[in-house]
Amino acid sequence: MHWTKGIISGSLALALATALPVARAQSAASQAASSEQNWWRNAVIYEVYPRSFQDSNGDGIGDLNGITDRLDYLKELGVDAIWLTPIYPSPQVDFGYDISDYENIDPQYGTLADFNRLTAEADKRHIRIIMDMVMNHTSDKHPWFIQSRSSKDNPYRDWYMWHDGKGETATSPGAPPNNWESAFGGSAWQWDPTTRQYYYHKFYIQQPDLNWNNPKVHEAFRNIINFWLQRGVGGFRFDAITTLFEDPQMRDEDPVLDKNGKPVMLFGKVELKDDRTDNLPQVHDVMQEMRATADKFDSDKFPGARVFIGETYLPNIGELAKQYGAPDKPEFQLPMDTQIGFINKLDVATFRSRINDAETKLNGNTPLLVFDNHDNPRLDARYGDGVHNTDIERVISTILFASRGASLSYYGDEIGMKTTPPTRKEDVKDPVGITGWPRFKGRDGERTPMQWDAAANAGFTSPTATPWLPVPPTYTTVNVKAEQSEQDSLLTWYKALIQLKKTNPAFAHGENVMLDTDNTKVLSWMRQTAGAPTVVVSVNFTADPQSVNLTVPGSGSGVKTLLKTPGAQDPASLNAIQLGPFGVYIGEVQ
Ligand code: GLC
Ligand code: CA
Repeated sequence: MHWTKGIISGSLALALATALPVARAQSAASQAASSEQNWWRNAVIYEVYPRSFQDSNGDGIGDLNGITDRLDYLKELGVDAIWLTPIYPSPQVDFGYDISDYENIDPQYGTLADFNRLTAEADKRHIRIIMDMVMNHTSDKHPWFIQSRSSKDNPYRDWYMWHDGKGETATSPGAPPNNWESAFGGSAWQWDPTTRQYYYHKFYIQQPDLNWNNPKVHEAFRNIINFWLQRGVGGFRFDAITTLFEDPQMRDEDPVLDKNGKPVMLFGKVELKDDRTDNLPQVHDVMQEMRATADKFDSDKFPGARVFIGETYLPNIGELAKQYGAPDKPEFQLPMDTQIGFINKLDVATFRSRINDAETKLNGNTPLLVFDNHDNPRLDARYGDGVHNTDIERVISTILFASRGASLSYYGDEIGMKTTPPTRKEDVKDPVGITGWPRFKGRDGERTPMQWDAAANAGFTSPTATPWLPVPPTYTTVNVKAEQSEQDSLLTWYKALIQLKKTNPAFAHGENVMLDTDNTKVLSWMRQTAGAPTVVVSVNFTADPQSVNLTVPGSGSGVKTLLKTPGAQDPASLNAIQLGPFGVYIGEVQ
């Protein structure tokens, strides 16, 4: 769980065109089926944080009807699917990641009828809805846990991870069973006086971990997946998926050691590894089981069309490659690639090698590029230099959309929303920002309301309402309405990139080959597919102007501009592409 680290701790139709009308109809249908099946391979997936996207009823909290109202905007942007962070009934301790009923909608966000309307309206626009699937833990208010904690012989007891303390006496609970820590700080064990045992929670105390050694837990989630498939969802994003299993022997986590073999200290305490509680091999069996469940659901129509996205923070490309499973035992189609998006430094060599890895070391599977989300500071805070932030956001978005694979984009990035953390402890909403204050201010800064226009409350909620998190002051200029009418805006840039990704054959299907590979200032690559012109992309990672000389094997040096940073010149040839500070150039080789 990296984001927490350092916190607290077709053509067949033509051939058949002369055949019987019936055969023609069938061929058209099967073509549609195969494109449906693989829709996710070149998809633009947009993460919506429902609480912060659009409020429709003036209570200051975003909701499903609000999202439905904004579907035309998403369509125009070019989005294929939206991933909704959890909208199920929840006490909202972790803003929905603590679920108390997996088969309903939290009244704050709407009703199942609103959900049906959202999916129906999205479907009209060919946008899929992806649900967040939290299988590691439930809310402590989920009926399963209420039962489980009530007595040691309750049938739900074994649905969670209960253990005796060490050295318990009549008056004291004793010490926790071992040294395992919560990703949110402190021991991962919580003493429960009713039955005098500890339960394990990888995240908040209010998020007890489910016991995945219990077959009933498997069955419950197969049913939940089927429930949402029946409601027409396009897939699932599996939350915290690497944390499902823990070491059966309950061994302590070892300390992280520095190069001299000494324990690494972080904020006054020994930093622990997470080998015993993260990325255990049994997770793969669960994912094969869940994927088989989804594939079976509509195997007659579109096998594999329901996408599985994974929240897969992993240490290296080899571990990421495993997440796809094997052809006969598929797991995720799109486990997120955090190797690229979380480099957190504009270093050309590192980007080049990591993008190459995604091209060559994932066994031909589709990479899912992602740079930020509701758990991490936005692009400005992680890649910006404070002077050229918008240009740097062009750089990052070019890597996101012009590389091969699917692209996952976080709401508001397309307009350049900035990370805006709370300035006073009493304003913090994310519990981890309260316990972590002032060192870690929590995740509110990247969850602020979507900035739609320059009206009070930025069009997110009624001008007189109080939004659940304050609207950042930037909204007067950084907003959808202003940027829709500006030719040089970031929003216009996003639309152009997405349009290229969808319509240019090299971008849609081409392989990704690095160019000018000794250059330490400019990252250049080409996209190539048979029967279509090659496209080159050059991205300046520095604040100084740069000139690049590209050679495309087997091609001349003519080039036609497809997209470039506003104000830049068209190059005379591939040999002299001039880039301004953090400038971007995309051209078709002639
Ligand atoms: C994932 C979610 C994060 C949540 C955690 C616990 O990392 O993205 O927001 O707090 O899981 O469910
Ligand atoms: Ca609302």
